[in-house]
Amino acid sequence: MKNDISKYQVTEILRDQRPLIIRAVHPDDKGLIIDTIGRVGAESIYRRFFGPKKFTESDLKQATEVDFVNVVALVAVLEKDGKDHVAGGGRYVRIGGTGQTAEVAFLIEDAFQGLGIGSRLFKHLVSIGRDSGIARFEAEVLPSNEAMLRVFARGGVPVTRTMTRDSIHVVMDLKKKDDEHGDEGHFSETPCV
Ligand SMILES: CC(C)(COP(=O)(O)OP(=O)(O)OC[C@H]1O[C@@H](n2cnc3c(N)ncnc32)[C@H](O)[C@@H]1OP(=O)(O)O)[C@@H](O)C(=O)NCCC(=O)NCCS
Repeated sequence: MKNDISKYQVTEILRDQRPLIIRAVHPDDKGLIIDTIGRVGAESIYRRFFGPKKFTESDLKQATEVDFVNVVALVAVLEKDGKDHVAGGGRYVRIGGTGQTAEVAFLIEDAFQGLGIGSRLFKHLVSIGRDSGIARFEAEVLPSNEAMLRVFARGGVPVTRTMTRDSIHVVMDLKKKDDEHGDEGHFSETPCV
């Protein structure tokens, strides 16, 4: 049974003053999402999936048909030429046995990066995650992905980064707010071993 998160919808104002709708993904977003993926550059795909990626029917189903319990997916929608335009999205997927940890990931199409969309998606996923009993978010981020690291650092939750062989493992503690460290986040870094 679908819960209220499946009806989640808020309006935000972007850095360039454009209104942005952040809402729960719907199964009938498949066409819009195929269009979005077609506009995302190879480098962004690499940063998201750590390699090239071909999208299959099953990937599309996974992207749009979520249960809003174990998987929560939000899309960022702008109006362009009078039509809905999905500029990207963010999701979390519960991992591990406790139900309190989720992996979080984002993909924003290149032309709309740097406008604050990723940061806003993250803020809403944190809020939904907290209300749904999630205590920590985790993410694997390429060391060169400064934009992603910055979104996490400024997200208002304490952040711990650990270097692994190829990526930075980021853990965000949703139980705490990071007011003390302003909007720059708090880092406890473990050096690469
Ligand atoms: C990473 C990503 C999700 C961020 O989303 P976004 O909408 O571009 O992010 P925002 O605009 O909210 O914020 C990006 C921040 O990084 C900064 N930034 C962008 N590029 C940067 C760079 N090369 N170096 C340093 N900082 C950078 C921006 O200035 C901004 O910081 P600010 O708020 O202090 O100005 C998006 O760029 C993306 O989809 N990238 C490709 C896929 C990807 O990397 N996914 C993450 C896998 S976990």
